[in-house]
Amino acid sequence: MGEPFAERLERLEREAEAGLAAASDVTALEAWRVRILGKSGLLTEELKRIGTLGADERPRAGQLVNQIKRRLEEAQAARRERLEAALQEARLATEAVDVTLPGRGLGMGGLHPLTHALRRIEDIFAAQGFSWTEGPEVEDEFHNFEALNIPAHHPARAMHDTFYLKAGGLLRTHTSTVQIRFMETHEPPLRIIAPGRVYRSDAPDPTHSPVFHQVEGLAVAEGIHMGHLKATLKAFLEAFFERPLSMRLRPSYFPFTEPSAEVDIGCLLCGGKGCRVCKGTGFIEVLGCGLVHPEVLGRIGIDAERFTGFAFGMGVERLLMLKDGVPDVRLFYENDLRFLRSLR
Ligand code: DAH
Repeated sequence: MGEPFAERLERLEREAEAGLAAASDVTALEAWRVRILGKSGLLTEELKRIGTLGADERPRAGQLVNQIKRRLEEAQAARRERLEAALQEARLATEAVDVTLPGRGLGMGGLHPLTHALRRIEDIFAAQGFSWTEGPEVEDEFHNFEALNIPAHHPARAMHDTFYLKAGGLLRTHTSTVQIRFMETHEPPLRIIAPGRVYRSDAPDPTHSPVFHQVEGLAVAEGIHMGHLKATLKAFLEAFFERPLSMRLRPSYFPFTEPSAEVDIGCLLCGGKGCRVCKGTGFIEVLGCGLVHPEVLGRIGIDAERFTGFAFGMGVERLLMLKDGVPDVRLFYENDLRFLRSLR
């Protein structure tokens, strides 16, 4: 019958204990349990074998097997507890949340540089008594051209590469339209600025974008003259560029003003000595202006004998490019956050 029962059981217990100690995780432990204590496990088999022993041996053998079984079960439970605690600890270590870390935050977002510039421009003119108004971006030929003294076939129309809409009408090519719309509904004296988007069918390049922003200005009252225009613009430009500036009005032509002028300021880069930015002239052009043409006033029904006015129009992107050294107008429309943040 080979090895005596008691000895075999002792050996089984020692091996089972060694196996238990070697079970390094819960899966190994479960395999051990099946192998030793399971339905056809080694110890269970020994229990079944008791029936083959002599009647005098059976009680002691049964007692022995049951004692071993209890010890192994207890050892198994203790081992399981240890392994589960270790597992829990490992999890806590790797999945730990450091509640003292500052949150990631949602980011507040910020104003687009153009919005920021438009608000500054509004503030500066508000301080000079100009109120803010706006007009539609989809316009008709009358407000975009005719009322501004640009009849059909006038050569000035060719300078405005206009988007015409299939349904009729057009996308305004300048904010001068708002001069007309405002004078249609308001009596002088009046003093307004009209910021907004304008459209021209230009191929995008570093200085052209098919959509850009202008700010139009208009003042109509008795006795308005070029001096008012010049002082208004100088105050604005110095506030906008945040420095004293030399400024000159250069005679020019716009159909809706007479006289007309383009405004140059002393070059921001070289201060007037002449450089690449001002192409050696010492000056850079910043906007167009003039005294409102009596034809324009008369056509809307304002008495041009009694009232005079000045007007001006400027490109917002251009002003910002000069102020902040932005090399390409398209940057304003590409939504690259690195660029947008760089302008405050
Ligand atoms: N509307 C002109 C343009 O888009 C700019 C302009 C020039 C507006 C002279 C004015 C002005 O009000 O007086 O090119």
